[in-house]
Amino acid sequence: MSFVTLTFDVTDRVATIRVNRPEKLNALNDETIAELGDAIELVLRREDVAGAQHPGTGTTAFVAGADIAELSRQGALDGRARALRGQRVFSMVERSTKPVIAAVNGFALGGGCELAMACHLRIAAERAKFGQPEVKLGITPGYGGTQRLARLVGTGRALQLLLTGEMIDAAEAYRIGLVNAVVPDAEVLPTAERMMRQIIAQGPLAVALCIEAVHRGADLPLDEGLELEAAYFGLLSATQDMHEGMSAFVEKRDARFTGR
Ligand code: COA
Repeated sequence: MSFVTLTFDVTDRVATIRVNRPEKLNALNDETIAELGDAIELVLRREDVAGAQHPGTGTTAFVAGADIAELSRQGALDGRARALRGQRVFSMVERSTKPVIAAVNGFALGGGCELAMACHLRIAAERAKFGQPEVKLGITPGYGGTQRLARLVGTGRALQLLLTGEMIDAAEAYRIGLVNAVVPDAEVLPTAERMMRQIIAQGPLAVALCIEAVHRGADLPLDEGLELEAAYFGLLSATQDMHEGMSAFVEKRDARFTGR
């Protein structure tokens, strides 16, 4: 599969997906959104890929938002349809059973912040900037920003960012829980990669069901979430990977998981 607005490379079981419109600070046009959907499908389909990371191309932007040139031409119905398409793709990222990490190397604004939030983990470069500036354009976020930001940082802080449209730096993003770590600029991709390799060395079924339990559980009452956890715990107890993991512990060696 070939891509026009992004690059897709696989090294040693890790896919690196870069939005590649540096002249527009990697703004997401409709084609990019569609290609991001194709890219995540490819990650899920390819057996030689265990996880994916998203850095931006260039040195200043991760993704500077949805493409304002396209948004400026939309009306009510096509605006809604565009939001639904973007939401569907970002939900695919969030629901990926293979881990996805955002390596945020610069501006993560609007759709860029929304893409980072849909990833399972976020590593920020010191120079990264985050924000949901849509109110400045007279719109709300459309690719999940009002929902995922509030879930990640709480309603008060989410509303502050959403209503003022202000940009925050990486240190503030870390302080409010929007990102998992802040590292020197040159370290963002190596750090994401190290974390990814640590994750994909674990039992893949356990990793997949941790992701599912957290995301599905977040929308459930506690009792139902606990029930879901118990079901996954039981399911994993019937896998070869559980026996391998426990045997490896007893035998003081690294586990060799097969995802069965
Ligand atoms: N959509 C379309 N084009 C965008 C864009 C976006 N979201 N963000 C940046 N660009 C384009 C600019 O129009 C410019 O293109 P041009 O050279 O053809 O004029 C190019 O990318 C470089 O951006 P520029 O604004 O000159 O860079 P800067 O360093 O001065 O400012 C930002 C960087 C990120 C602060 C600024 O580009 C910005 O505010 N972008 C919009 C952010 C936004 O509102 N995102 C949410 C959209 S819903």
